[in-house]
Amino acid sequence: MTKQPRLWRLDAAARTLLLLAPDSDAIPEIIWFGATLPADIDAAAVASMQDLPLPMAKLDSTVPLHLLPQHSQGLDCTPALRGHRNGADFAHRFVLQQIEPQQQTIRIHCIADAAALAFTIELHLHEQSGVLSIATTLQNTGTTPYTVDWLASASIPLPEHHAECLYLTGRWGLEFQQQRQSITTGRLLLENNRGRTSHELYPGVITGTQGFSEQSGDVIAAQLAWSGSHKTIVEQLGDGRLALQSGLSLDPGELIIAPGESFTTPVLHVARGTGMNDTSQAMHHYARTQILPAWTRQQRPIHANSWEALYFDHDIDKLKALIDASAELGAERFVLDDGWFPARRSDTAGLGDWWVDNSVYPEGLHPIVEHTRAAGMQFGLWFEPEMVNPNSELYRQHPEWVLQLNTLDTPLARNQLVLNMELPAVQTYLFEKIAALIEEYKVDYIKWDFNRDLVLAGDGQRSRMHRQPTGSYALMQRLNERFSQLEIESCSSGGARADWGVLAHTGRVWTSDSIDAIDRVAIQRGYSLFNPPEIMGAHVGHELAHLTGRSIDLHTRAIVALQGQLGFEIDARHLSTDEQHQLQHYVSLYKQHRDWISDSTTWRLDVRHEPMTQSGLVSANKEKSLWFAVATRSIAATAPGKLLPAGLEPHRHYRVKLVSNNAAHFMHHAKHVPAWLNEEISLSGEVLMQLGIRLPVMTAHSALLIDISCT
Ligand code: GLA
Repeated sequence: MTKQPRLWRLDAAARTLLLLAPDSDAIPEIIWFGATLPADIDAAAVASMQDLPLPMAKLDSTVPLHLLPQHSQGLDCTPALRGHRNGADFAHRFVLQQIEPQQQTIRIHCIADAAALAFTIELHLHEQSGVLSIATTLQNTGTTPYTVDWLASASIPLPEHHAECLYLTGRWGLEFQQQRQSITTGRLLLENNRGRTSHELYPGVITGTQGFSEQSGDVIAAQLAWSGSHKTIVEQLGDGRLALQSGLSLDPGELIIAPGESFTTPVLHVARGTGMNDTSQAMHHYARTQILPAWTRQQRPIHANSWEALYFDHDIDKLKALIDASAELGAERFVLDDGWFPARRSDTAGLGDWWVDNSVYPEGLHPIVEHTRAAGMQFGLWFEPEMVNPNSELYRQHPEWVLQLNTLDTPLARNQLVLNMELPAVQTYLFEKIAALIEEYKVDYIKWDFNRDLVLAGDGQRSRMHRQPTGSYALMQRLNERFSQLEIESCSSGGARADWGVLAHTGRVWTSDSIDAIDRVAIQRGYSLFNPPEIMGAHVGHELAHLTGRSIDLHTRAIVALQGQLGFEIDARHLSTDEQHQLQHYVSLYKQHRDWISDSTTWRLDVRHEPMTQSGLVSANKEKSLWFAVATRSIAATAPGKLLPAGLEPHRHYRVKLVSNNAAHFMHHAKHVPAWLNEEISLSGEVLMQLGIRLPVMTAHSALLIDISCT
């Protein structure tokens, strides 16, 4: 029988996805995902060119690395599905049933008759951003329950010339740290079992050619839209082919599909480009248009958050003074953080009792809310809905609402336990309590926290880990539907829940509990690999950073905070007049630029001197841009070299201006500073991008901000 190779394709503005099935009934494989390919591609010629060699001493037939790698193929790659029926049916042979091509989507249906399973893979190529999104549905068509141990959201081949892999690790107070590893024979397992997205491992990975960087190299970035335990595998097969899989990380017996039921995985989003900037820009575009709530397109207000100013000291007079002082700086939204509900004088009690502590607030929150509004600000309130302290009314009444296992004690974390978000009673309780407060105080914004990892997250017997995120999403969605103006921020002891699963319901990330501007440089840079700047909560903190004890200059703190959605987490009551004026200057810069920043293109620049970090934001029409340079420690050379802007319009003329108010600092630390610091110059985009801008001597922890805008 002659083979009849078939091709399917999806095209976006600048990307093509090409699927090849070597025969008409074969499951297709991704043969290309990258720059746009010509229209008329001959399937037989491509199949011939991609035909696999067959080495001696191996299987007697070649094994394609198609979209559903299986145990039964004899492939040395992780199968897309691992599961069984009480030990039986652990191996299956899926065959192609149908391919449904639509405009931007291809749906591939496969069945394994003997195992009574059906598998559907949906691939969608977003027209404008070129982001490829893949999800999988597994259906149990049998008569007995089917236990899933691993079900990949997507299994995709990686380009075989990709040699390195980059992912984001970290800890509390130091999230989104970039880590690189070579791809060699074997399996690189990036797994997080903490039941939340985690500080330790963001559910995203980037692979690329040797030494790929921000601005060079062939790069693929992939991220899983999921806020729970996750697993990504990058592997090199014995024959040199590379594969990537990503999906939920499951506890044993956690996912059992009942007869006739099906389970759909979270979506894996993939971008391809030249340099990491390219894939980040695609991800940012996709997030803005496809993931984030519509309100993130509106002007992003400046926050003032009470946490590091007062912690649990909810004294009404102090709060009022803080509100006044914050308004004076230019804040537009005051957020009353943790400590306003009963017994919450420390983190040992109160979570779950979502009503106002009358012993602290005899008239409820009204005096604070009214004071906030009178000062011209919106009002935001902190919640940690999924959590409960054993020392709370809620726990005393409903100990059965927490996630736990009957036979083992659950270790506390920050003195708290986790509610089982799958229970309708829990959903109703939280919805009613939160909605009542939103209604009473016309709350504009919720800082939605999630401050512990999940351990022994069961319903008494079985793990319910993967049900938690969907329970949280459902509650958020219900609140969003009920209060269309409400804005929700995702916080999880800082940035431990900043994935696209939760960002479909929230539109601001509290990037880190560390407001140390120097540590923030790497934190924010890592964050920006996958997420856009306008939803990145970035506050000006105290001179002495609370988490690190490092003392940092005001300009540096403000410049780093201007990379995201600006806010203050500072005791504004005790600022000098000079500090106030300086901060007001940065507030006015933020107000001047924030509208175009919401749509801007992010450029992280490659620089030779490592402690020097440079980045920029360029408006969509390329008329405006802001460029940041920060010396995160002392630079070995006497001067930091140049900043070479990117993404400008080559033939347009731009004015270059130092807009951070700190020229004096640079003049103090050198005999001479580059002349442009004290005079306005105008040059074409081309000349600026090629020749670059020479920077002044920059001492450790100094930063500067340059405005390059069309004349
Ligand atoms: C977490 C958050 C902080 C703050 C505290 C309050 O740590 O990340 O910003 O809200 O909780 O307890």
